[in-house]
Amino acid sequence: MKDHFTVESEIMTETKITARNVQVHYGDTHAIKDVSVEIADRTVTAFIGPSGCGKSTFLRCINRMNDTIDICRVEGDILIDGEDIYDRKVDPVQLRAKVGMVFQKPNPFPKSIYDNVAYGPRIHGLARSKAELDEIVEKSLRRAAIWNEVKDRLSAPGTGLSGGQQQRLCIARAVATEPEVLLMDEPCSALDPIATAQVEELIDDLRRQFSVVIVTHSMQQAARVSQRTAFFHLGNLVEFGETSQIFTNPQDSRTESYITGRIG
Ligand SMILES: Nc1ncnc2c1ncn2[C@@H]1O[C@H](COP(=O)(O)OP(=O)(O)O)[C@@H](O)[C@H]1O
Ligand SMILES: [Mg+2]
Repeated sequence: MKDHFTVESEIMTETKITARNVQVHYGDTHAIKDVSVEIADRTVTAFIGPSGCGKSTFLRCINRMNDTIDICRVEGDILIDGEDIYDRKVDPVQLRAKVGMVFQKPNPFPKSIYDNVAYGPRIHGLARSKAELDEIVEKSLRRAAIWNEVKDRLSAPGTGLSGGQQQRLCIARAVATEPEVLLMDEPCSALDPIATAQVEELIDDLRRQFSVVIVTHSMQQAARVSQRTAFFHLGNLVEFGETSQIFTNPQDSRTESYITGRIG
């Protein structure tokens, strides 16, 4: 029965994303080598590993962002809720509404704060009226923990905000289309420590609703925000497990070398 489990352990076991034998090549560069993994729903999963090991490449497989890179070839299967996202029937634009992405450098559109958030709901026809759109914008800004800071200046340009505010605006923009998965590629690397702490707190909150996958070069950040950690090395997924286990009791010598600072 349900109440025999804590909410935490129950939700930790539900798979959202399944990757099977994923290979990625850029021309002759073999960037991802036969990676198979199951990523849980309502959990923060961190991808860690030395620069160039394939973290961003693998992340971009999950919303087919690699499709936009001509020389990039993705093989294998990626399923979300059991559905093959590389199936010919799948529209990548629709997929990217369902699998939102936040980038390293905050990249608000050169538009108002309101229009940044309203952009996705508008192109996907999610609001039937101005009032509904207003509601989506407010809800998304609240979820991204920035509503109070911007509610009196929604028509001001998004690019006028501080770096940390811009990143939270980009998170609001990503959640506005009601995604199920949020991909974040080093979302705090351009932020100061205070803005980083705010975004980390937000990530912890977002996992109640989304499957969050975050690439980070900071092991401290992985330890702070994630429940599961995947360690990549030279295109291989070397180890994957509970974050506390990866950091305290790694099973592979390469993981141990990385977390103790010997490689990376
Ligand atoms: N757009 C691209 N074109 C060609 N090679 C790329 C491209 N993006 C990444 N690579 C190569 O793929 C490998 C993995 O890179 P990447 O996924 O960016 O690693 P990470 O995010 O872990 O630093 C590296 O060898 C990198 O040079
Ligand atoms: Mg990267």
